[in-house]
Amino acid sequence: MQEHRVDVVIVGSGGAGLRAAVEITPPYTCAVLSKVHPLRSHTGAAQGGVCAALGNEEEDSWEWHAYDTIKGSDFLGDQDAIELMCQDAIRAIIELEHMGMPFSRRPDGRIAQRRFGGHTKPENPADPNSRRIPVRRACYSADRTGHAMLHTLYENALKNNVRFFSEFFVTDVIVYNGSCRGVVALDIRSGELHVFHAKAVLFATGGYGRVYQVTSNAHAGTGDGMAVVYRRGIPLEDMEFVQFHPTGLWRLGVLISEAARGEGGILRNKHGEPFMERYAPTVKDLAPRDLVSRAIITEIREGRGIEARDGTFYVGLDLTHLPEQVLREKLPEITGFAQMYLGVDPRREWIPVQPTVHYAMGGIPTDVDGRVVLDANNTVLRGMYAAGEVACVSVHGANRLGTNSLLDLIVFGRRAGKAIMEYLRSGADWEELPADVLEFSRERIERLRSGSGQERVAPLRKELQRSMSEYVGVFRTEQQLLQMTSILQDLRQRYQRLRLQDTGRQFNTELVEALELENLLDVAEAITYSALNRRESRGAHAREDYPKRDDQNWLKHTLIRKREGAEPEIFYKPVRITRYQPVERTY
Ligand code: FUM
Repeated sequence: MQEHRVDVVIVGSGGAGLRAAVEITPPYTCAVLSKVHPLRSHTGAAQGGVCAALGNEEEDSWEWHAYDTIKGSDFLGDQDAIELMCQDAIRAIIELEHMGMPFSRRPDGRIAQRRFGGHTKPENPADPNSRRIPVRRACYSADRTGHAMLHTLYENALKNNVRFFSEFFVTDVIVYNGSCRGVVALDIRSGELHVFHAKAVLFATGGYGRVYQVTSNAHAGTGDGMAVVYRRGIPLEDMEFVQFHPTGLWRLGVLISEAARGEGGILRNKHGEPFMERYAPTVKDLAPRDLVSRAIITEIREGRGIEARDGTFYVGLDLTHLPEQVLREKLPEITGFAQMYLGVDPRREWIPVQPTVHYAMGGIPTDVDGRVVLDANNTVLRGMYAAGEVACVSVHGANRLGTNSLLDLIVFGRRAGKAIMEYLRSGADWEELPADVLEFSRERIERLRSGSGQERVAPLRKELQRSMSEYVGVFRTEQQLLQMTSILQDLRQRYQRLRLQDTGRQFNTELVEALELENLLDVAEAITYSALNRRESRGAHAREDYPKRDDQNWLKHTLIRKREGAEPEIFYKPVRITRYQPVERTY
């Protein structure tokens, strides 16, 4: 066992982790752990943009941005946090520009902005009640915005002498006598367990897309941070809200950026009809993702999908009318993806697309400074922080607007970093570690390495992913969700009978996949039970047996806590409303 003493340990090296790391300056020491190299973090896959009401292209205001985010969240987002984020967005983008982020530019040199789903302005700015039409609010670097952001933040974190531990896989969080004191991680290269003894811990481990079969998420998106804290009795918030991005490449799920529709792309069914006009008559293809994903599934269910050779269905994303220069300069990445993965040339053919699991609206509950909170009274867990997709602030509520996630990373990553610095300066110290600090991780790993059953990791994972896609998809019913709870019980029993072929220590990727599978099972449990419990439809949670939003009974956040050997406990906390009462959500 190796022990490291650092002031701060950050788990995860994507946008939120790196933005927080930029704040941790000498004399304080900071270790960033990541199961991949930092530049392989999933932030690098974000394509279309990061939004802020800069108003570079047309009149805009942070209040319009905040209202869009609240309405997009189906009124489940906490309005104080949303207002804070949208107001800070403008500063955050200028800061990124000063850090060196290579944004795409307008001819006059200012940052270029484009349209994205759910981002609107009043048609008549003098009349706030006039109908809302799409606005250019997303700042971007072609369709490689996350890549540009990740590299910029990495370079800036390196300046602070942050110490990176790449290919370290977190197995446990050390919470003892009411405070968080560090983490345990597996060094994948050597197979050794390391203890990182810290005064403050930040989780920034991203999402869980790999719980599902078709996802835009990298293979690393296995919900590790959420699962690790859930196993230690820390609740998770609003896990039923799983975002399906409407345009994943058919069958593969690879992201085809919403920027394609922001630049004028149109979704078409098998008759060539631009069907979004029927579902969102004003904003059409630029409706929020929950609405567009449901529209696509409805088109397919009602027989207007396009049939593939293998009998599955998709709809077409038509970019054939866009000037070639737009594809070349603004959408080069997705043009290449369509050609490379499906052999489709978007200049001449529609891109076959289907909804793909993209983003977790729920996660580890935090306050606006990234402090992890444990209950409806927002009791803080001392020394523990979370930011980015793994966290639930909650600024996305029941449905996130595109480009608000990169914004979330830089606004709340920075705030968490600053809050940690304040905590350190206030005299936080290393607190004693429990004597058996490694036991839980060691026992899990040894049990897996010595397992003698007949089950293998890959088939179990495949079954989990297939079942979650079938029973906890864009539309859900009680019957499907109950079915999923019994599948999960069965999968857990089978997990106990795993046998690894590789029982070695060094670079045992099969062991890592087995540990990830347990994380996926825990996250799937939290999603399924939260979804079963919420008897209404709101945002991305569409219950066919409860098709209406029910503010009377369900305008509240779900908190779910694990109970060993029993069904999880579910409780609630109120939504924070500042000035916008829920209204019907039409576009
Ligand atoms: O469609 C996209 O480019 C995705 C953006 C986002 O999820 O924010």
